[in-house]
Amino acid sequence: MPQAVRFDQYGGTDVLHVEEVDRPVPGPGQVLVAVKTAGINPGEAKIRMGLMAQTWPATFPSGQGSDLAGIVDELGDGVTGFAVGDEVLGWTDNRASHAEFVVADTDHLVPKPAGVSWEAAGSLFVAGVTAYAMVRAVSLGAGDNVVVAGAAGGVGSIAVQLARDAGAAVIGLASERHHQWLSSHGATPVTYGDGVAGRIRAASGGRVDAFLDTVGGGYVELALELGVRPERIDTIADFGAGQKYGVKTDGSAAGSSAGVLAELAGLIDNGQLDIPIAAVYPLARVQDAYRELEQGHTLGKIVLKP
Ligand SMILES: NC(=O)c1ccc[n+]([C@@H]2O[C@H](COP(=O)([O-])OP(=O)(O)OC[C@H]3O[C@@H](n4cnc5c(N)ncnc54)[C@H](OP(=O)(O)O)[C@@H]3O)[C@@H](O)[C@H]2O)c1
Repeated sequence: MPQAVRFDQYGGTDVLHVEEVDRPVPGPGQVLVAVKTAGINPGEAKIRMGLMAQTWPATFPSGQGSDLAGIVDELGDGVTGFAVGDEVLGWTDNRASHAEFVVADTDHLVPKPAGVSWEAAGSLFVAGVTAYAMVRAVSLGAGDNVVVAGAAGGVGSIAVQLARDAGAAVIGLASERHHQWLSSHGATPVTYGDGVAGRIRAASGGRVDAFLDTVGGGYVELALELGVRPERIDTIADFGAGQKYGVKTDGSAAGSSAGVLAELAGLIDNGQLDIPIAAVYPLARVQDAYRELEQGHTLGKIVLKP
């Protein structure tokens, strides 16, 4: 029987386990995908810990995972445009991709270009469409100075590159061990912590036009202090500040579409977008994968491989 990640109660990484499950059956308009890779995201950890129980409660036993890439294994009734053996990437909204097999709606899948690695393909959806929505929300163009907080993370590492390609000069806030990666991807790295406002002013020549916050904890206030207009600030980690100051909160929901995902996959395929892969874990080590993620200092993406 195929294996899948499950948890039966809210808790730490220790509630995660892999168990044998029935082989899922694709319904009309769906396909069954044999998963090659599936990315992990902080939102999944928050759901598993019960931190989102008011807005997105879990039902137990719960599966896990949105991001996926793999090979079409079976077609549901009426499916056209996909064939068994197709290499695809995409997502499921059913917390189910951390598994050997997942059912996916065909409008949640796009073909995997040959030049996109399985690791990048399987970890692209959440971080990719979120970064895309953030960059779009603040309308970046040539001559803009934009700051990205959390610039080395899953979302930030993609946002930095999309902002650069929009013509903006990018300042990336990150710890020093990630500065070289940022420099080599077109951003000016700046260390966060005490004195960060002064370092940003020095790096930007005193003018910051837009701010992308993937971290929370006061970055929206910092952006306002730096003189950024609220409509050119986007946060995915501080919804209270979003309401309080009228800044934007566009994230995965705003960016989620097969069209956006296909565009991002195309950028990877033609060498314009790099997805740094911090680590790859076998499915059986799902606890270790989230322990690493939950330290909060990942460069790029952590991927599970069933
Ligand atoms: N609303 C949405 O639609 C949506 C969608 C996706 C993600 N999110 C949320 O967005 C956040 C980021 O997600 P992610 O996947 O990018 O996380 P991630 O891959 O874990 O990256 C987090 C990054 O934050 C950096 N960081 C930690 N403390 C920092 C600080 N004080 N200042 C600046 N950077 C700091 C770390 O870099 P260093 O190692 O350099 O410290 C790390 O690279 C999470 O809270 C997630 O839940 C929201």
